[in-house]
Amino acid sequence: MTWQILVLNGPNLNMLGTREPEVYGSDTLADIVADVSAYAVERGAEIRDVQSNSEGALVDALHDAKAWADGVVFNPGAYTHTSVALRDAIASIELPVVETHLSNVHAREEFRHTSMISAVCLGVVGGFGRNSYLLALDGLVRHLSA
Ligand code: DQA
Repeated sequence: MTWQILVLNGPNLNMLGTREPEVYGSDTLADIVADVSAYAVERGAEIRDVQSNSEGALVDALHDAKAWADGVVFNPGAYTHTSVALRDAIASIELPVVETHLSNVHAREEFRHTSMISAVCLGVVGGFGRNSYLLALDGLVRHLSA
């Protein structure tokens, strides 16, 4: 069984590499996706990745995942803290979704301490830089295989 996983990234994550490297590191999103892709093979999974700066496109990608994916690794960027639409989309697809952040949002500004989506996610991983994505994928595959 090869698990099919959507790796979904929200706004401004296309700017990784040059975006606030002191917070997010100097890897590009392409570097991270390549890493997750290689790790997925080791873990018996295959990934497709989507990045969008638009809330609606992220909702569409989640809806679309219902048709083909077993689970989702999702970094919604700033929409984490604001988007009821993403929360409702996650609840509607009935797939396990792991909320994933490069930074430890709880060690940052107060407005980042609230997540609109955590309550409808399988789990939350944050604070480990690019490794957050690998840990999220590992948790998801373990959940699916259990
Ligand atoms: C982020 C944390 C969010 O607060 C922020 O808006 C991002 C990135 C992270 O990966 O640490 O864009 O999701």
